[in-house]
Amino acid sequence: MDGVTVIDHPLVQHKLTIMRKKQTSTASFRQLLREISTLLCYEVTRNLEITTERIETPLTEMDAPVLEGKKLVFASILRAGNGLLEGMLDLVPAARVAHVGLYRDERTLEPVEYYFKAPDHMADRLVIVVDPMLATANSAILAVERLKQQGASNLRFLCLLAAPEGLERFRHAHPDVQVFTASIDSHLNEKGYIVPGLGDAGDRMYGTK
Ligand code: PRP
Ligand code: URA
Repeated sequence: MDGVTVIDHPLVQHKLTIMRKKQTSTASFRQLLREISTLLCYEVTRNLEITTERIETPLTEMDAPVLEGKKLVFASILRAGNGLLEGMLDLVPAARVAHVGLYRDERTLEPVEYYFKAPDHMADRLVIVVDPMLATANSAILAVERLKQQGASNLRFLCLLAAPEGLERFRHAHPDVQVFTASIDSHLNEKGYIVPGLGDAGDRMYGTK
C-alpha cells in the first residue's frame, strides 16, 4: 500500500510472534515490546537527514556525520504507546517527547482525549508518533490532528500491528504521514479488535483487564 512500510526484519517478526501468543506473560510482553521498539526505531529513522561536523580524532581532523536539524519528537499515544517509547528513547536519548492521552470508548470506538503535552518548536521537528495498535485508526487520526494543531508538519506514524481498514482510513485522513508497521493483519472484528492481533496492547503490557 502506498505510504506504508512493513518492517519485515526477521528479529522483529520472531519477537512479534511471541508477543501474539496468549500465554506470553505481562513481563515478557513488556520486555519484547521494548526490544522490538529499538529495531522499529532503527527502521523509522533510517533516512534521517545528516550533515557533518568538524571533529578531531586522536589522529587527525575530519568532517564527521551528525544528525541535522532540531531534536526529534517521539509522540506517544497513551497508554500503550509508552511501550514503544521506552525502547526508542534507549536509541535516541536526546529526543523530545510528546504525550497524547487517549482511550477508546469501547462502545463507540471513538477516542476520548484526557491529556496532551508537546514540546516547543513542533514546526521545526520531525515527529514520530508511536502506538502499538492501529485498529480503526480513530486514535491515530485524532493524535496526528492534535499534533498538527501544535504546528507539526513533518510526521511519521509507527505501530506494531495495523488493520487494513485502519490503514486505509488513516492514509485518507493524513496522506502526508508515512506509516511504518511490523504487520498488516487480516481484519477488524465486530468489537474493533485486530485479528489475528495480540489482544489489547495496554492490558497486556500492564496486566489490566
Ligand atoms: C488502544 C491502542 C490504540 C487504540 C487503537 O488503546 O493502544 O491507542 O486502542 O484503536 P483504534 O485504532 O481503533 O483507535 P486503548 O484505547 O485501548 O487505550 P490504552 O492504550 O490506554 O489501553
Ligand atoms: N486496541 C488494542 O489494543 N488492540 C486491538 O486489537 C485494537 C485496539
